[in-house]
Amino acid sequence: MASLGATLLSGCGSQQLVTFGDMASGFNREVAFMSIFAIALSVIIFVAVSYALFFTVNKFREDKNTDAPAQFHGNNRLELILVVVPVVIVMFLAVLTVRSMAILNPVAEQTTKIDVLGRQFWWNFSYPETKADAGGDVTNGNEMVMPTKQPVALTITSGDVIHGFWAPNIGGQRAAMPGALKTWNVDTDRAAVYQGNCTQLCGGSHANMRYKVVALDQERYTTFLAAAKAYRAPEPAEGSAEARGYELFMKGNPATGALACAACHRVQGTTAAGAAGPDLSFFGTRRTLGAGMWEAMTPEHWEAPDAKAHLHAWIKHSPKVKPGSLMPTYDGSEYEVNGKLVKGGVLTDEQIDDVAAYLRTLKLPEEADYWNNTPVYGSSDAAENAPTPLAKTSSPTPGGKQ
Ligand code: CUA
Repeated sequence: MASLGATLLSGCGSQQLVTFGDMASGFNREVAFMSIFAIALSVIIFVAVSYALFFTVNKFREDKNTDAPAQFHGNNRLELILVVVPVVIVMFLAVLTVRSMAILNPVAEQTTKIDVLGRQFWWNFSYPETKADAGGDVTNGNEMVMPTKQPVALTITSGDVIHGFWAPNIGGQRAAMPGALKTWNVDTDRAAVYQGNCTQLCGGSHANMRYKVVALDQERYTTFLAAAKAYRAPEPAEGSAEARGYELFMKGNPATGALACAACHRVQGTTAAGAAGPDLSFFGTRRTLGAGMWEAMTPEHWEAPDAKAHLHAWIKHSPKVKPGSLMPTYDGSEYEVNGKLVKGGVLTDEQIDDVAAYLRTLKLPEEADYWNNTPVYGSSDAAENAPTPLAKTSSPTPGGKQ
């Protein structure tokens, strides 16, 4: 089953094993237990029906039987058997299902709660029980950090259309529906990085709506959460590239029509509180860009030249590198807002690099870097900073679309 799952579900750029056969998850173990009965019953029924079919065809072949066939209309005993046996089978499977639901669904009082928000085409993961010292919920975009060895209660909703949350290794797929909140448990016994994908066709970049689940052992998780709670974005040194980037991030460039990043993004500990785009508070710690379109997994992370190139292209004209991205362009090209084409503002390449430099400073303290020493599950190199190169899914320059 594990290999089947891997074959069906893996195949994205980086090396990792994405499978619902991951038995480190209690959810997956429960489902596998149920599957044994369902599959065993199916095999028994298949064999029995096949036997009856071939037996009958052989025994009552025309060349052996010239008389009219025997009639059994009105055979109450036979009809009763044909009704009762399937009912018993279905009831048995229903009891098993209800039993599993009763085990998997209740949300314990004392458990980690994470709110999941799906938007075209990204995710926010917030910790409703952890209020940041700087105000607001601790929130991370596109990378969900969770503790191991306990059920984690996820509550999902959508800000626009229907999305689907599924990280097969931790179990439990759920749809994100606007206006509805759904809560369920996921869990894993293994500290590792897992892949999640949107599983509901939701628009042009449905396939580019990925996320990482980073499961940490309790101690490291506590360290992460405490640091995230205390986090305030660093203040860049006066006159530095980061300081210029900070100014552009907060105010844009009204002279050229370049919109402020802060209008759509939140950065904890600053006045940036936008909610239309993913939270960028820990951007420098994250290793994925554009909801998993690219991964900066080399030891230099965002300082690597190709990672810088991707980040530059992303800021410059995100809708060109990610179809359907609602981010404005900063090269003066047109992009779509509510079905209408509007002209983007302009930042120079130097200004874009300044914004990128500021983003790279948005880092959790070293001990709270959840990527450090966390193996990517299924990666051939499980050591720190598994050498998964920046996924070459797309060139940093605009592709064919738009
Ligand atoms: Cu969101 Cu597909």
